[in-house]
Amino acid sequence: MHQGIRQSVRNNKSQRWSCCTKCVFGTLLYILIVFILLFLIIFVIVPLVFKYSVGIQQSIIFPTWVITPKNYSDIEAFGIRGVKNFYVDIEKSPNVTLGVWQILPSQILSHVLKNDEYNFDGFLTNKNYNILLYMHGNGADRTSSIELYEVLRNYFHIFAVDYRGYGDSSKADMTETGIISDITEMYKWLTDRSKSNIYIWGHSLGTGVATHLISNLKQENISTYGLILETPFTSVTDVMITHPIVEVYSYLPWFSVTIINPIIENDLNFDSKKYIVDIDCPIMMLHAKDDDIISYRFATDLYNKAMNTRNATYQGNITYHLFESVGYGHMLIFKAPELPNYVRNFIDECDNFEGRNFF
Ligand SMILES: *[C@@H]1O[C@H](CO)[C@@H](O)[C@H](O)[C@H]1NC(C)=O
Ligand SMILES: *[C@@H]1O[C@H](CO)[C@@H](O)[C@H](O)[C@H]1NC(C)=O
Ligand SMILES: *[C@@H]1O[C@H](CO)[C@@H](O)[C@H](O)[C@H]1NC(C)=O
Ligand SMILES: *[C@@H]1O[C@H](CO)[C@@H](O)[C@H](O)[C@H]1NC(C)=O
Ligand SMILES: *[C@@H]1O[C@H](CO)[C@@H](O)[C@H](O)[C@H]1NC(C)=O
Repeated sequence: MHQGIRQSVRNNKSQRWSCCTKCVFGTLLYILIVFILLFLIIFVIVPLVFKYSVGIQQSIIFPTWVITPKNYSDIEAFGIRGVKNFYVDIEKSPNVTLGVWQILPSQILSHVLKNDEYNFDGFLTNKNYNILLYMHGNGADRTSSIELYEVLRNYFHIFAVDYRGYGDSSKADMTETGIISDITEMYKWLTDRSKSNIYIWGHSLGTGVATHLISNLKQENISTYGLILETPFTSVTDVMITHPIVEVYSYLPWFSVTIINPIIENDLNFDSKKYIVDIDCPIMMLHAKDDDIISYRFATDLYNKAMNTRNATYQGNITYHLFESVGYGHMLIFKAPELPNYVRNFIDECDNFEGRNFF
């Protein structure tokens, strides 16, 4: 009797014990499965989706969706004067038309003229003013740098162009080759109409466009007068790798195959460190130490790469202005009081550069 009771108590205990083991084991298994699933989704599915979705890669590198649609002809609404909005048809890509702003030099602005009363076409053939072809960054359009234009129009007759897919330029396949091919034609559109010296100014992604463009023009024996790189970088993948989110992925054995190589294979890398060696004109680089979008280390790398391969005698000098951390960041170098002086000195340097006469 007693024994029987004791036994049944023991049985009960061991049943409870084994039930609890099952609970703990079950919970652990559950947690494990959740972890494995999360790991698979975050570190396997996401990289695989990224690898096979060119659209996602393009919308990260060309975030045209952040730009609000505007009426680019409504110049007065932008608070700028002496600007003409027009469109250039790209013959090589029959369905591509680029939107352009022509920004007259400030010397000829007049308070008595309305915006559409200027002789924009007549001025295009006036070779007394240096032309500047401006290339914007990846989250911008041709209206984003008006404060900079107001500084630069003291020295240049500016043409600011929207790449394919940007602003009201045509939607078209977003690749580096496509963009460079359009801009090459835009450059020739200018040289067909003007005998002025042509400078190129790139900001951020635009430095990648500018550098590749000049390298392309060199293949056709066309030389540019001067190149200004504002907040440049070495290549898109170099910058990507230092992004905190991408850095987490960089420990995966399949990181290169799924994240890095697709950017290169899909023609999105803007490998300036490759093209910079082809630049046969003086270069001025501008960067701020407090730029947290593109670290100035990339500009320094690019500068060193160029310096190590450059023959200053026929390619010209590179001047690198690195601003201290005074708040310019990635977007506000136009505020630097030194900027006008830097630009003037650079123009002098380009005018004195004798190397271009070697060809
Ligand atoms: C854009 O602005 C121009 C100039 O102000 C105007 O003539 C035109 O009608 C506007 N277009 C649209 C679609 O609002
Ligand atoms: C241009 O657009 C037309 C009509 O949409 C299309 O038939 C043609 O294939 C396109 N051409 C190119 C080069 O994309
Ligand atoms: C560029 O110049 C070189 C040397 O003068 C010449 O061999 C080549 O055919 C030229 N290329 C073009 C596209 O004009
Ligand atoms: C640089 O180019 C010039 C002209 O082509 C040449 O005379 C000179 O030797 C070159 N200098 C170096 C260091 O390669
Ligand atoms: C290029 O830099 C060198 C060394 O700083 C300088 O002597 C030379 O005058 C510069 N060339 C031009 C065209 O400014």
